[in-house]
Amino acid sequence: MQIDDIKEKIEKLKKDFNESIKKIDDVRSFEEVRIRFLGRKGFISELFKILPQLDNETRKESGKLINELKQEVSLSISKIQKKVSEKRKEKVKTDPTLPGYPWPVGRYHPITTVLREIKRCFRQMGFSVVRGPEVETQYYNFEALNIPKDHPAREMHDTLYLNDDMLMRTHTSPVQVRVMEKNPPPIRIISPGRCYRRDTPDATHSPVFWQVEGLCVDEGVTFSDLKGVIQSFAWMMFGKDIKIRFRPSYFPFTEPSAEYDFSCMICGGKGCRICKGTGWIEISGAGMVNPAVFKYVNYDSEKYTGYAFGMGVERIAMLLYGINDIRLFYENDVRFLNQF
Ligand code: FA5
Repeated sequence: MQIDDIKEKIEKLKKDFNESIKKIDDVRSFEEVRIRFLGRKGFISELFKILPQLDNETRKESGKLINELKQEVSLSISKIQKKVSEKRKEKVKTDPTLPGYPWPVGRYHPITTVLREIKRCFRQMGFSVVRGPEVETQYYNFEALNIPKDHPAREMHDTLYLNDDMLMRTHTSPVQVRVMEKNPPPIRIISPGRCYRRDTPDATHSPVFWQVEGLCVDEGVTFSDLKGVIQSFAWMMFGKDIKIRFRPSYFPFTEPSAEYDFSCMICGGKGCRICKGTGWIEISGAGMVNPAVFKYVNYDSEKYTGYAFGMGVERIAMLLYGINDIRLFYENDVRFLNQF
């Protein structure tokens, strides 16, 4: 190809371009012309692709001419762009009388709502709210809670270990030890937080779940204080129709130990899918603080007694809202979450 052929091509392109811009009358036709001439696969890019086939002298001169063409076209394009967008602005006038667009409003997750309500109830009864770490040491999660090395709760089966010593806490009870270590009695706290267990997910179990720990230590604290506080909490949360029951149980850090259930408010205690036909839903472990735990924090167990409990928050939420599967809380399905 000779230089004259290139010149001819450039002239033809210029003519085409000048014809095309005459027809531009809106953003769409402007974009079409811009892409056709200046786009990655546009006419000018195609012209540049011829250069490697030319001999040295012709390539030099052609390169210069094509670059000049590109600059000329780019300049025209940016002038036209300005005009087109000004014209568009004139056309699209704002009408302030039109109704606004509704913005989607966020909301609390049902677990957050229930946690806030639980905190409100216990604050009314004089409890303070404290937090503890989710990554714990074996000492706080087990040892200082009188859970010896061979206790089943320490097995890999239940616990997510991070290394030989660190783990994801399996319950909120380590906060009991942390609080007592730092503060002399009297103590009256609750501690909400996430817990982690290698539990297979099912309708009532999740590998990550929330507990609210409770601890009250003072002179003369008894099991009936525990029952009174839990009864009051249940009434505040669910109304006076709810029943509670305590069953004997075992935890190494409480003695005596119990578990308590709330009557199923969905079926009124008659038995349904949510309470699995029993009329009751297990809510929490509880008991009187074992003097063995007081030893770890240097509390005088001759002088002080205390009670503790650890409630499952999802279970309370399920009871409150009539939800029959815990997994719904963690699927992030907005059709579910929008209902709260
Ligand atoms: C404990 O975790 C004890 N730390 C409770 C305690 C505290 C006892 C203070 C005595 C004194 P347990 O493993 O039973 O106990 O769990 C307590 C509650 O947490 C259960 O009743 C249940 O409501 C909830 N829970 C336990 N595992 C799960 C899980 N995988 N998914 C959802 N909720 C759970």
